[in-house]
Amino acid sequence: MKDTELISLAKKAAENAYVPYSGYTVGAALLAESGRVYLGCNVENAAYGPTNCAERTAFFKAVSEGERAFTAIAVVGGKALDFADYFTPCGVCRQVMAEFCDEKFRVLIGKNGEEYLSLTLGEILPYSFSSEKLK
Ligand code: THU
Repeated sequence: MKDTELISLAKKAAENAYVPYSGYTVGAALLAESGRVYLGCNVENAAYGPTNCAERTAFFKAVSEGERAFTAIAVVGGKALDFADYFTPCGVCRQVMAEFCDEKFRVLIGKNGEEYLSLTLGEILPYSFSSEKLK
């Protein structure tokens, strides 16, 4: 799958964001090694704390369907589906990525139009804590 296709899917996923409190819509499209794509959006909560980010929604959907190996995730974020600036995943979502992906896992960050950033998990979460340390 082309990077630009995965980013388009992330934009589509953001349309389902449930964001009555922040109005900040986030979409994610996670490509598994199986070739399947799992979409995620942020789902907010009146108690704030239970809010789930779009990236984790996508990961938890995929893992709960039996996927364990992933190639790339595309993300977009912005107020009311306006992806004016590059948005970067929060620390909690980076840590969840590190549970299942190595430093070469690709993180594609889209915005309005065709331009995008192509980063790796190693770049956005260096010196990460992982299961290796628990062995
Ligand atoms: N959010 C995400 O979906 N992903 C992130 O990586 C950071 C933040 C959501 C949570 C909340 O619904 C809104 O963005 C504002 O924080």
